[in-house]
Amino acid sequence: MRIDVVTLFPDLIAHCAAAGVVGRAQERGLLQVVAWNPRDYTSDPYRRVDERPFGGGPGMVMLIDPLRAALAAARAAAAEAAPVIYLSPQGARLNQARVRELAQRPRLILLCGRYEGVDERLLEHEVDEEISIGDYVLSGGELAAAVLIDAIGRLQEGALNDAESAAQDSFSDGLLDCPHYTRPERHELGVVPPVLLSGDHAAIRRWRRKQALGRTWQRRPDLLAGRQLEPEDQKLLLEFQEDTKI
Ligand code: ADE
Repeated sequence: MRIDVVTLFPDLIAHCAAAGVVGRAQERGLLQVVAWNPRDYTSDPYRRVDERPFGGGPGMVMLIDPLRAALAAARAAAAEAAPVIYLSPQGARLNQARVRELAQRPRLILLCGRYEGVDERLLEHEVDEEISIGDYVLSGGELAAAVLIDAIGRLQEGALNDAESAAQDSFSDGLLDCPHYTRPERHELGVVPPVLLSGDHAAIRRWRRKQALGRTWQRRPDLLAGRQLEPEDQKLLLEFQEDTKI
């Protein structure tokens, strides 16, 4: 997969995309992240990328032409057509289902705004969709783009070492993840639940499912609302609720 990012801070994107699982995915040739700086596509001596807003008010607005030229250069750099996604708090809220969908595409172009935003005409003509990473305001789209690249990158086939771990992620089946433990078995902060040491794989699977259901019920009941649980899951959730009763 190839992700082109139009940004005034290409180093920030490159740095984020070089770390951890996503960096490894790039090294393995599973993902390529390329940043484009609109400042390189200005035609004036000051390399201006922003101007004051018409109608007055605070802040600056990003100019159409440098962004448009950077998008055109990004588009022309590879053969596959790519949707342009603008990261903004006005976009549709990102979730794991959307991440999974986007991870299937051969190519994406991400557009990062700064200042008060981008001239609306550019958004109307050049952007296919807007995505928000949550109901809060960042000072630019770069960190949101980095979040999206991370979430997409780790889903590329071969990016994760353990083929199971993406399947077991939180949200992979609409539930939160179960708790995890490692050595030592006994610690002053507590002991590991005995079932995890039992070697009984069916019992471990059952315990994990019960914890995932229970945690989702406790912490994110909205994820269960309107969902019909399988009879076995209903039983496990009931057990969890009984266990946690005081
Ligand atoms: N840019 C600024 N805030 C943002 C957000 N919450 N999501 C995506 N892009 C943004």
